[in-house]
Amino acid sequence: MTKPRVVFDPFSDEYFNDPYDIYLRMQDEAPVYYSEEMDFYALTRHEDVAAALKDHETFSSSRGCDLSMVQSEEGPQKSIIFMDPPEHRMLRSLVNKAFTPRAIQSQKETVEQLVDHYLGGVDPEHFDVVQDFSGPFPVEVITRMAGVPEEFRQQVRHWIDTSLEREPGNMGYTERGMQANIDSAMYYYGLVQERRQNPQDDMLSRLIAAEIVGEDGQPRKLDDIEITGFASLLGGAGAETVTKLVGSSVVTFAKNPDQWQKLLADRSKIPAAVEEMLRFDGPVHYNVRFTLRDAHLHGTTIPAGKPVFLMKAAANRDPRAFTDAHIFDIDRDRSEAQNLGFGYGIHSCLGAALARMETAIALDRLLDFMPRYEVQWDELEKVHMQNVAGYHHVPVKVLR
Ligand code: HEM
Repeated sequence: MTKPRVVFDPFSDEYFNDPYDIYLRMQDEAPVYYSEEMDFYALTRHEDVAAALKDHETFSSSRGCDLSMVQSEEGPQKSIIFMDPPEHRMLRSLVNKAFTPRAIQSQKETVEQLVDHYLGGVDPEHFDVVQDFSGPFPVEVITRMAGVPEEFRQQVRHWIDTSLEREPGNMGYTERGMQANIDSAMYYYGLVQERRQNPQDDMLSRLIAAEIVGEDGQPRKLDDIEITGFASLLGGAGAETVTKLVGSSVVTFAKNPDQWQKLLADRSKIPAAVEEMLRFDGPVHYNVRFTLRDAHLHGTTIPAGKPVFLMKAAANRDPRAFTDAHIFDIDRDRSEAQNLGFGYGIHSCLGAALARMETAIALDRLLDFMPRYEVQWDELEKVHMQNVAGYHHVPVKVLR
């Protein structure tokens, strides 16, 4: 009997619940996967995904990074993540200045305080790692850096959560999600206006004051839409992802208690553990690109004008690239292949250093707080979101 063809439906329950078996089959059976139902392609092998991420002249970001955006007739909102060079290069060189190692290091104390604050408030008998801890703290860090007043910082997280939600079988925004996007854009737009009048020591005010070299070679300032777009992106990119990475870490370590023991015995392994988590179950499973010209791989042609899923999470588990790719091993040899968890090429994560620091501090404090713990497996719940994967609820009990 022939095996049924592998099906990758990015909005199905089956995929949300267990993507990794699907990835393995795609790598073996359909390295250039094509979905007839939704008219998109997907690459899953490490070599192919890394090469495509580097080749922005073929695989463009300018139509957006998720399927509904890329397939939509209207272009996406203006945002660094949806730009190709030369526009991307100009904006990236500007915002890079806000993310220098020194700028990130200066946030360390804030991160520690926020981590301690949220962890200090939980009940060790029963708490939800995501809702009580890894959800609230990263959004506080990034919105504070951006200049969002305290009373609106958690609201930003709820808008993002709502906007990323997808109903099974439906790739578009939910009605609530659409409204959340509008509310969030209106909010940031208002804040930009306010900062124009009354600049503060924050990222928004610095972006308002900064100049970039425009396409005509002349210096120009960023307009309201560009600044609003960047601020909204930071909220999403800088909060949801760290939330998911910390939540998934707690689940993964519970399934691999020997690895948690290794960390308890030697905290200097924390940075390596963060890298391994990003590889093994990182939060960004894919970003979608749009082909500007034909691409030829494995004897197949992906025609120009098509959406292509670049599956970073699949590539990071590709047995062709990593030894024992499906084993979580914080001591693994990281020089074997590029970890694609933060992307690769010109769009690679701007906030990687901040994300690494936040996750490392969170893990360090969790090791103190719950050297022994158990996950309440029956209450574990995954998110159903576009691009990002992870948990909505990770209930744990600290063991004495
Ligand atoms: C564990 C946490 C994080 C992960 C896994 C992650 C992952 C990624 C990935 C995969 C991309 C590339 C997207 C693409 O190729 O289309 C990206 C881009 C980006 N990330 Fe992150 N990210 C994280 C945290 C953060 C944080 C904390 C910030 C902000 C402070 C941030 C800001 C950005 C921005 C602005 C971009 C767009 C860069 C560009 O287009 O040039 N990210 N991130």
